[in-house]
Amino acid sequence: MSKLPQVGTTIFTTMSRRARELNALNLGQGFPDYDIDPRLTELVAAAMTAGHNQYAPMEGLPMLRERIAAKVRSLYGVSVDAESEITITLGATEAIYSAVQAVIGAGDEAIAFDPAYDSYEPAVRLAGGRCLRLPLAQPGFRYDFERIAAALTERTRLILFNSPHNPACTVATAADLEALGRLIRGRNIVVLSDEVYEHVVFDGGRHHSVLSHPALAPRSFAVFSFGKTLHATGLRVGYCVAPPELTRELRKVHQFNTFSISHPLQHAIAAYLAERPDSGAALAGFFEAKRDRLRRALGASGFILPPAEGTYFQLLDYGAVAAGSDLEFAERLLQEARVATIPLSPFYASPPALTFVRLCIAKKDGTLDEAAARLNDFAERLHRA
Ligand SMILES: Cc1ncc(COP(=O)(O)O)c(C=O)c1O
Repeated sequence: MSKLPQVGTTIFTTMSRRARELNALNLGQGFPDYDIDPRLTELVAAAMTAGHNQYAPMEGLPMLRERIAAKVRSLYGVSVDAESEITITLGATEAIYSAVQAVIGAGDEAIAFDPAYDSYEPAVRLAGGRCLRLPLAQPGFRYDFERIAAALTERTRLILFNSPHNPACTVATAADLEALGRLIRGRNIVVLSDEVYEHVVFDGGRHHSVLSHPALAPRSFAVFSFGKTLHATGLRVGYCVAPPELTRELRKVHQFNTFSISHPLQHAIAAYLAERPDSGAALAGFFEAKRDRLRRALGASGFILPPAEGTYFQLLDYGAVAAGSDLEFAERLLQEARVATIPLSPFYASPPALTFVRLCIAKKDGTLDEAAARLNDFAERLHRA
């Protein structure tokens, strides 16, 4: 008996394991290979030394939630109440899971857009719901709002939205948010807006949060991750911002799911944000430099690098130089170039014939340079063959 018969080990875990086995460079799973700010390490140690080692409040440390409210005010120009609208969660993953359990019941429907982050559909299924997967339109992975409107039914309760988008590396426009707001108007639908890459928007663009959209903010769970913003995916601390009615329901699930989140880490993060309130603002430039470095290094490879508007990923299109499925191509890169990547088809319910693999750019410059050299060598061999 299985509640998730189709689910196996995720492509991220599989690729990371294969990268270790083959001693390959791991540009697959999305995590940095460089050190975190040593000040954060000191603050974690200080929080434990100060004795913050027992249960934290269920909804999260008040001091940390106040810091988040201040950030939301300065970044998105809106006031959210730290007490009733912010919940600290075990990474964004728990925020997504708990929010889905809070609103989806047996027979309810959710909509996700393919290529979709892998945790969305299993969360919906475990709640007894059905997840409709609508592909983003090519070229450029764009929303087709007419198609989305046509897919809504009486049972649609939730739309899972993600911007900046992993793995498409696109950023939703103000017009996309407008269209989403119009779509749910007059319907009993809430939005789960996955904004874990909120700071990572390139080329002077900006992130449009549901929190600053008047029609969406009252109907949305907005989900964020300190793992992404502090370059420390192992911290497993995230948060959800939602209006009080939704937050109440979220916390009913959260308190029986994780109950509360690491107390010393919450103290350390709150102290870190107090010392470095602008740390998030540095992320776009930091990752943009890495994106540009990798794009430059692969410029003559023959691979096509579609525009990356945000996130810490870059897609690589091999269609002009190699044949075969993306799974086969990723396996070739692993074995023949010793570079681990993530093929896109596992992000689809019904994979179309796309020729993309995803590269993580949250790596040391030296790792990116070495990966580019290996990919260039491999491309050279493909051209000669
Ligand atoms: C789009 C997206 N949502 C959610 C998550 C999960 O975030 P966390 O590590 O905080 O659970 C990730 C992590 O890669 C992600 O890319």
